[in-house]
Amino acid sequence: MKTVTIVGARPQFIKAAPISRSLRKQSKEILVHSGQHYDQAMSDIFFKELDIPTPDYHLGVGSKGHGAQTGEILAQVEEVLFREKPDWVLVYGDTNTTLAGALAAAKLQIPVAHVEAGLRSFNRKMPEEVNRVLTDHMSTLLFCPTDTSVHHLATEGITQGVMQVGDVMVDAIRYNRLIAGESSQILERIGLEKGSYVLITLHRAENTDDPKRLSAIVRALNQLSVPSVLPLHPRTRGRMKEHGLTFNNPNLLVIEPIGYLDMLYLESQALKILTDSGGVQKEAFILEVPCITMRDETEWTETIEQGANCLTGADEWRIIDSIEGFSADFTHVPPVFGDGYATDRIVDHLLNYMKVT
Ligand code: UD1
Ligand code: UDP
Repeated sequence: MKTVTIVGARPQFIKAAPISRSLRKQSKEILVHSGQHYDQAMSDIFFKELDIPTPDYHLGVGSKGHGAQTGEILAQVEEVLFREKPDWVLVYGDTNTTLAGALAAAKLQIPVAHVEAGLRSFNRKMPEEVNRVLTDHMSTLLFCPTDTSVHHLATEGITQGVMQVGDVMVDAIRYNRLIAGESSQILERIGLEKGSYVLITLHRAENTDDPKRLSAIVRALNQLSVPSVLPLHPRTRGRMKEHGLTFNNPNLLVIEPIGYLDMLYLESQALKILTDSGGVQKEAFILEVPCITMRDETEWTETIEQGANCLTGADEWRIIDSIEGFSADFTHVPPVFGDGYATDRIVDHLLNYMKVT
């Protein structure tokens, strides 16, 4: 069996790492990097520290508008698929790379397998929502992380090929948590104490590309009285510059994006996490750190239902109040994202589907 795996953005490198490792032990994998993320701190560092094989194809697409980026990836992936003639195309999550990879395959009638299928925010203004809905509707195998995601697909009439396997991010944490604990020197490097700080991430287009929302968030962060650290996504750095916004809070340390091992360690030792990331909300839950999410809705509704996460939107005062007041009790929280063996199930399904069809 031959699989072409298509990745391109930071969270996809992290999710693909355990699956590529397992897939390559039992079959042939061709890895394609679209080049959607390209900075050393947004791409190379993950390949090195997670031991992801060097991509067989690097498409070098880079940053562009949605149409140009998606279109260029689509055209180039088509060429790769003509040449490689795989049994599967494997895509992850909800980025432009995901949609372009799935569409290229579907047009050539190559079956698509989608990891992190069935997620919905029900907000079609998010580019990610459009990408994930379309990708799910083109997929032959849909690997769902949760009950909720299976249910969303059923509501849209998708029941065939739907497999609830758990969330591969639990696998990534299971595999890397100890390594991160032993190797990360990030706290010493940035001068923060375990359990004393808020870890912040901010990059979602709905926050960064709306000057009103971005300035409300920046105002809130400039008032935080607890030590805080923000590994700043390049998108946010760019938009802040465009809008003349700056951080001026001595309690807030702004650093470059960091590798996964440092991130995992910073998350696990944080007092609270403030974020608009999808992956970071889940990691906070799995690592049992209270999470405050700067969005109006979330796909990861289980984290809210379990009392481990709260939504503040881009409201300056709700953000400040939640940093002070929100806490979570993880004593009776069930493992809604699975047992950390999603990888084995995904690889088994890919291999067995080919045998029985
Ligand atoms: C993308 C995904 C988003 C995901 C995020 C993960 C889409 C539509 N969005 O958003 O779902 O949560 O990745 O981080 O696919 N840039 C750099 N260097 C890089 C990469 C980006 O400077 O290596 C800057 C560029 O100015 C670029 C901007 O960041 O225009 C946005 O990058 P892009 O990949 O378009 O979207 P993300 O915000 O990263
Ligand atoms: N992450 C990282 N370094 C950082 C910020 C995030 O390694 O500086 C990891 C984080 O731990 C998670 C993933 O990147 O595994 C989340 O990616 P991101 O927030 O960019 O995208 P999203 O999950 O929102 O699509």
